[in-house]
Amino acid sequence: MVIVPKKTITVSDSSNEKSVEFPLLDGTLGQPTVDIQSLSPNMGYFTFDPGFASTASCKSDITFINGEEGILLYRGYPIDQLAEKSNFLEVSYLLMNGELPTSAEFATYEGEIKWYSKIHEKLRGFIEGFHYDAHPMAMMVGVVGSLSAFYHSEMDVDDPEHRRISALRMLAKMPIIAAACYKHSKGDPYVYPRGDLGYCENFLNMMFARPSEHFFIDEGQYMDPVAVKALDLLFILHADHEQNASTSTVRLASSTGANPYACIAAGIAALWGPAHGGANEAVLSMLEEIGTIDRIPEFIARAKDKDDPFRLMGFGHRVYKNFDPRATIIRKTCHELLEKRSTVDPLFELAMGLEQVALNDDYFVERKLYPNVDFYSGVIYKALNIPVEMFTVMFTIARTAGWVSHWLELMADPSRRIGRPRQLYTGSGMRDYTSVDDRGGA
Ligand code: SDX
Repeated sequence: MVIVPKKTITVSDSSNEKSVEFPLLDGTLGQPTVDIQSLSPNMGYFTFDPGFASTASCKSDITFINGEEGILLYRGYPIDQLAEKSNFLEVSYLLMNGELPTSAEFATYEGEIKWYSKIHEKLRGFIEGFHYDAHPMAMMVGVVGSLSAFYHSEMDVDDPEHRRISALRMLAKMPIIAAACYKHSKGDPYVYPRGDLGYCENFLNMMFARPSEHFFIDEGQYMDPVAVKALDLLFILHADHEQNASTSTVRLASSTGANPYACIAAGIAALWGPAHGGANEAVLSMLEEIGTIDRIPEFIARAKDKDDPFRLMGFGHRVYKNFDPRATIIRKTCHELLEKRSTVDPLFELAMGLEQVALNDDYFVERKLYPNVDFYSGVIYKALNIPVEMFTVMFTIARTAGWVSHWLELMADPSRRIGRPRQLYTGSGMRDYTSVDDRGGA
């Protein structure tokens, strides 16, 4: 989409009476943006925006978020409609290609994903190189980055077909690598993907089945259609989210023309942080630390105490300031899943109790801190027997759809430039070197 500025913003410099007009760019939806690319050459100033809360780093057609109204659109489709009517593989096609597939297109796409889901047997050597108790996210960063050592063909990032194949490879191989990392940590034999299973079924099968016999945990737990649907839903909700920290990392790495697998590995590293995708694991650890409902006030007080680094994990969001539409959908699925299992998960009860206390506390209300996508996802992953240390790996599998879509969008943009922000320098002024004797050093 070509953006034609209609209005301008005038910036007047009181120090020299100079005024400069900057174009005001309107997108399809959302806040207009001031195009300040000429600010430094025309006025000699940088903008200062640590955390980029007021900065549009790029233009994108992929995902739209309205934080005030809790709106999330993938290529224009509302997340609640996709959650109800679509599936993760179809959503991944939509994110990458911009349109929902026809039946024929989807059949071809599904076949390509199955075709690329094999991993080189030598790659298992990288997994074996980790100690059994390595965090699976450490393994994912290393193993996904090592894919760049395996694929030399179809690696011309300026060739659209090579880019398409690289994107398919990453989406196809992520669950295989993730399940293999889990099996390695358990000391269990690997389970290979099966041609007769769907994307999420295959993942659960590779995680929980055993090659000699199909060992059913909880008697068919991983083949339970309710579990498969819950996982597919979680993958849809986590597939993309505009210019979040990990996607921005992928875009910055990609702007140098680096190998796509290395760029996605950079995104995995960024997602791991507890302020970002690592929050789902941190939520479960926090709930386990709180333990019982009567200890909630103690932890609410800690979250409000500026001298205490403790934050309420799963609460707050840089963009959503009323509610995270994904959390609303997940909360409903939590109830359904646990009711179907007729299990009362004490952690879910605790999560509900914590949510109610926080939502009625002035500190959280004033700061518009609401449960985000990570607050409930851990409860569902736990109900699916996914171990806590694998929670962010699940987020990684889903967000690969968004990361590769943004990579494809950036690399197809003929106007793309290497990302290179500037800074406000606050260090020492220029000074001459002095020898240690002159410095009077001992
Ligand atoms: C994800 O960007 C995305 O889209 C991310 C994501 C995606 O799909 O990619 O949605 C996924 O990462 C969700 C967020 C998961 N993280 C957490 O749940 C960790 C806990 N949340 C916080 O760390 C925090 O809320 C952030 C990181 C999510 C947002 O940080 P901001 O926007 O920088 O907010 P802030 O630090 O400026 O906080 C504003 C105020 C501060 O208090 P004051 O200085 O104004 O007195 O709110 C307070 C903060 O101390 N605050 C919290 C809090 N979050 C913010 N206080 C207690 N507990 C919290 N969780």
